[in-house]
Amino acid sequence: MTENPSHLTGRRAPGVALRDVSMRFGDKTVLTHVDLDVGAGQFVALVGPSGAGKSTLLRLINGSHRPTGGTLSVLGVDPATCGRRSLQRLRTRVGFVFQQFGLVGRLSAMENVLMGALGSLRMPRYGIAGYPRGLRERAVANLERVGLVDQRYQRCDTLSGGQQQRVAIARTLMQEAELVLADEPVASLDPNASVSVLQTLKKLSAEDGFTVICSLHQVELALQVSDRIVAVRDGSFILDAATVDTTEAQVRAVYEQAKRV
Ligand SMILES: Nc1ncnc2c1ncn2[C@@H]1O[C@H](COP(=O)(O)OP(=O)(O)OP(=O)(O)O)[C@@H](O)[C@H]1O
Ligand SMILES: [Mg+2]
Repeated sequence: MTENPSHLTGRRAPGVALRDVSMRFGDKTVLTHVDLDVGAGQFVALVGPSGAGKSTLLRLINGSHRPTGGTLSVLGVDPATCGRRSLQRLRTRVGFVFQQFGLVGRLSAMENVLMGALGSLRMPRYGIAGYPRGLRERAVANLERVGLVDQRYQRCDTLSGGQQQRVAIARTLMQEAELVLADEPVASLDPNASVSVLQTLKKLSAEDGFTVICSLHQVELALQVSDRIVAVRDGSFILDAATVDTTEAQVRAVYEQAKRV
């Protein structure tokens, strides 16, 4: 891995730090001794061929997997060794955005967004009226920020894919997530919706200062929206550089070399 330039390590600690992290599933090694420092507020695009370990890396960061070697620090907490309650607390600070949106389709956009606040409430809530007024106002404001205030009472399964992903992003705003992990968030969207959803995420991250680590297969999009590109292949980071210093050819090469193997 190339050295991580100091200007890329962010504005304020703590972000995400991986030290000598390895991950094996049985006898299959997916990540081999990787180091990564992501400073608060950065937008990192994670690229690499299918099976390279991008989702595994994101799952390590949110504590769904424990590394088989090395240590992690995520917002100042090690998700692999902290207790169950600390992990729960950490997860209220980390938003996850999936390719398949992860929304409850039969509920409205507003209800799905309000669910982002459940971590801060003691009791489960049912229906919009069950949430405190302040949260309902914030939910409307967050839907406005992602351009969906007019659709707030529409069932999520009747929204377009791009709109559904915007709802998922508004849900992480509700959570006031300090870190958003996005696993191919635009893989099932058309090119226009993809660029628009990612630009919204980028804008919100710049405005609110949250960190984004986003796996993407679309090279042009990664170059357009990220501050930094990390490419993973064969268990290692083969590229880690500021996006302004990275060419399209460099990123495409990450995939080309994999095709030849
Ligand atoms: N829970 C698991 N058990 C066993 N093997 C796993 C598990 N999770 C992932 N793997 C393996 O780890 C490797 C990396 O998978 P991962 O899902 O992280 O790749 P990826 O880079 O996200 O790929 P894609 O671009 O297709 O989403 C794959 O070979 C996969 O089969
Ligand atoms: Mg994946």
